[in-house]
Amino acid sequence: MPATTPETTPADPTARAARSVLVTGANRGIGRAIAERFVAAGDRVATIVRSGGAPDGVLEVIGDVRDTASVDAAFTQVEAAHGPVEVLVANAGVTRDGLLMRMTDEDFADVIDVNLTGAFRVVRRASKGMIRLRRGRIVLISSVVGMYGSPGQVNYASSKSALVGMARSVTRELGGRGITANVVAPGFIDTDMTKALPEDRQQAYLGSIPAGRFGHADEVAAAVQFLASDDAAYVSGAVLPVDGGLGMGH
Ligand SMILES: NC(=O)c1ccc[n+]([C@@H]2O[C@H](COP(=O)([O-])OP(=O)(O)OC[C@H]3O[C@@H](n4cnc5c(N)ncnc54)[C@H](OP(=O)(O)O)[C@@H]3O)[C@@H](O)[C@H]2O)c1
Repeated sequence: MPATTPETTPADPTARAARSVLVTGANRGIGRAIAERFVAAGDRVATIVRSGGAPDGVLEVIGDVRDTASVDAAFTQVEAAHGPVEVLVANAGVTRDGLLMRMTDEDFADVIDVNLTGAFRVVRRASKGMIRLRRGRIVLISSVVGMYGSPGQVNYASSKSALVGMARSVTRELGGRGITANVVAPGFIDTDMTKALPEDRQQAYLGSIPAGRFGHADEVAAAVQFLASDDAAYVSGAVLPVDGGLGMGH
């Protein structure tokens, strides 16, 4: 018989209860790194993705943030498995770059539908449970481009800057109920999304980043984890850049 069993081991005063965390788009890139961090911290983590491939330990629900019914069904599944979502990270995003004069209505609307309206759909759905719990953490993944602007990305930049207004309005509406809403604005992070950019654009960005390098997905995840922590209980409506200084001043 061991001297201590799990029942008799004194409680770790630094330990915290596992939370129900939902990260959209966690099968690759930044979303994957965010989900992996929460898993490592002992949380119950789920993701909504269109295709599969979520990391180990993450409950994968196939869904589409462009579809309200799909979002609702996915949340119902996550809630049944993990309980109401306490931490929501709206990360799913797409680009459809093109110069303004050649950008079609579809190019504009499709990007808004995923990046902005998609975030709205998951925030609205998550807020129901958070209001009941009287606590919650909402983190919206924006981009340096939302504040800095970028040629060829009128659709993407518009979708990303609007997330600031969303987080700040949610803060004013739900801040008194223990719910925070913040924005993380990554700069140039090494993922599939940025690998798709032309080489000359990548080199131009590199030359203007004070840190002199691109970022890692896990560096974005660290900022998200802070905003979702108890330590950030009094941080809301903020924009936290993770961009090596690229967008500073905004
Ligand atoms: N990489 C960067 O440098 C950078 C910089 C600033 C901001 N960001 C932002 O950070 C976020 C993640 O970027 P990333 O580089 O990791 O992108 P990524 O590798 O292209 O991954 C995008 C993720 O979004 C998901 N997704 C796309 N449309 C979806 C939809 N309609 N419904 C559900 N999921 C959907 C994808 O899942 P499926 O594959 O299953 O569709 C995928 O998991 C995005 O919001 C992006 O705008 C990235």
